[in-house]
Amino acid sequence: MQYEDFADPSFSADLIGWQKQHGRHALPWQNTRDAYRIWLSEIMLQQTQVSAVLGYYGRFLERFPTLHDLAAAPVEDVMAQWSGLGYYTRARNLHKCAQRVVAEYGGVFPSDPALLAELPGIGRSTAAAIAAFSAGARAAIMDGNVKRVFARVFGIDSYPGERKTEEAMWRRAEALLPQEGIESYTQGLMDMGATLCTRSSPDCTRCPMQPRCVAFATNRVKDLPVRKPKKATPEKHALLLLMVHRDQVLLEQRPASGIWGGLLSLPELYGHAAAEGDTAPEIDQLAAAQAVQQFGTVESQEQLLPVTHVFTHYKLHMTPLLITLAGRAPLAANERYQWLSVDRIAAAALPAPIKKLLLDLLGHRAEAQARMF
Ligand code: ADE
Repeated sequence: MQYEDFADPSFSADLIGWQKQHGRHALPWQNTRDAYRIWLSEIMLQQTQVSAVLGYYGRFLERFPTLHDLAAAPVEDVMAQWSGLGYYTRARNLHKCAQRVVAEYGGVFPSDPALLAELPGIGRSTAAAIAAFSAGARAAIMDGNVKRVFARVFGIDSYPGERKTEEAMWRRAEALLPQEGIESYTQGLMDMGATLCTRSSPDCTRCPMQPRCVAFATNRVKDLPVRKPKKATPEKHALLLLMVHRDQVLLEQRPASGIWGGLLSLPELYGHAAAEGDTAPEIDQLAAAQAVQQFGTVESQEQLLPVTHVFTHYKLHMTPLLITLAGRAPLAANERYQWLSVDRIAAAALPAPIKKLLLDLLGHRAEAQARMF
């Protein structure tokens, strides 16, 4: 592994100094070493903002004043107190965790973060926060706020959700821990992320890290942390068999599930792009001829320009193959297929892009016909 020297005592010194002067000091779970109260707050604060937790925290403690009260309560009562806070697995794990601490530790939370992290609902970062606040243990936290602060201060320009980046951030977090003052340091990281180094409106002018912030110096505060890289949209190709006989077009009812479920559409044959970025598939003439054969005899065939439709998860490039039939075979007793008069297309249950294609292409036939009468 490459040599990394992340240690820098001035980082924690600056952060601790700032936290003492400008950080939060009066949250209801602060100014205590009671592991029960600290643990409860850290679980409630997972994926949930302080403002949402405030009301719940006090009410929960009134109903379950001690760990023993919580462990002895029916899980339904715990769920009822949690109701509205969301992520209900947290409440179930909270109850399990209380019972395990009673059974395995005589009702006293361990102070070793590694032991805490083995309990239900307590991950590595939550374990570190509980151990730091309740016992002064030197352990590193790492959540979305810390990742954002680190990405900016240190100019980390790879995606923090990526395993390698996250692992490097953990190593950095461990290396930066102060020898003393872990409580203020840990609270300082949380406070900075929540009040100054926010995602969309960071307050760099008040930030104690500004002189060392790589993102600030290089004008990349808005660009860091880098967002989740978008996967390229998959592209599919299909041949649309647009079989026309006199003033009618052949439609197929799509399966109930999947895109355009249950709607009438044109029969499709899947194609393959000749090259990447190619919107028109190579036509498998044999497969097309075989598919058409059952419906009648072909008079002429014309490949039209492809149309592209963008779905949420993929793009579909459709190449219509206009096939004019000289005569048509009776439809097998198959309710999936039906012939529809061109003048009924506008009112039929067709997917919008297919309807548009048909109206653009065949609409004039309907108009021409209408003029004849
Ligand atoms: N988010 C997670 N833990 C927190 C804490 N102890 N104070 C404020 N916000 C937090």
